[in-house]
Amino acid sequence: MAAPSPVLHVEGLVKVYPGGTRALDGLSFTVSEGEVYGLLGPNGAGKSTTFRIIATLLKPTSGRVVVDGVDVAASPLEARKRITYVPEEVGGYRRLTGMEYLRFVVSTYLRARGEPGRIGEALEEAVELTGLPREVLEERKMSDYSKGMKRRVQVAWALAVRPRLAILDEPTSGLDVEASYELRETIAEYARRHRVTVLLSSHNMLEVETLCTRVGFIRSGRLVAEGAPAEILEETGARNLEEAYMRLIAGSGRG
Ligand SMILES: Nc1ncnc2c1ncn2[C@@H]1O[C@H](COP(=O)(O)OP(=O)(O)O)[C@@H](O)[C@H]1O
Ligand SMILES: [Mg+2]
Repeated sequence: MAAPSPVLHVEGLVKVYPGGTRALDGLSFTVSEGEVYGLLGPNGAGKSTTFRIIATLLKPTSGRVVVDGVDVAASPLEARKRITYVPEEVGGYRRLTGMEYLRFVVSTYLRARGEPGRIGEALEEAVELTGLPREVLEERKMSDYSKGMKRRVQVAWALAVRPRLAILDEPTSGLDVEASYELRETIAEYARRHRVTVLLSSHNMLEVETLCTRVGFIRSGRLVAEGAPAEILEETGARNLEEAYMRLIAGSGRG
């Protein structure tokens, strides 16, 4: 079998915000086709900054991002056709019903990508992926939805259009145990079945152990360790990823 081709290549990213915060300090990692890659780290580690740069919404101070062979800084419009991005805080569109919202985002995205013929099929799939009853999607406005329901709608369309790379920033943060379990199952199952490549982030290291095929630990804008969850557990002798992270941080912090 041929080696999986890289869908995302992040190389030496540095981001210094106006004001001087060095959010990223030489971050590099690669995500291959079909992977669910988790960028894990505490608040302020640089996860959202990384995702905004990949999604072309923010320019890095230096470094390079290539998505599916496209340099995002040189060709942002081409890059956007290959990406879907669900930010941490999902606002807006409160006056639309879930269905109106899905129709809008799915058709806009697929038209931009030159695939208007796939709109109907992707919309049906998105509806199914939300796991919400059709009446709720048809009749109730997004402003009435719980945080978990809004997140489901967002993640559903981001996957259903089958991007080359779906970027989900803390998809389960703020959700209760059940909602976050269901959303993780949806992501894992869909990615496996359709080989959609997913990049997600979390500050909860315990929840991603079964979801991610590979994880990268990020701290102060740098990758401190990377591997399949099982590999990391074996190498560190930890019982879970949270413990592994603490050991690695303790090990790298001295000296
Ligand atoms: N727009 C901004 N302006 C200035 N500093 C920012 C901005 N956004 C994030 N930061 C800072 O950059 C660092 C990384 O933030 P962020 O990428 O949001 O981390 P994470 O998503 O891992 O919590 C933090 O110190 C944060 O305060
Ligand atoms: Mg964040």
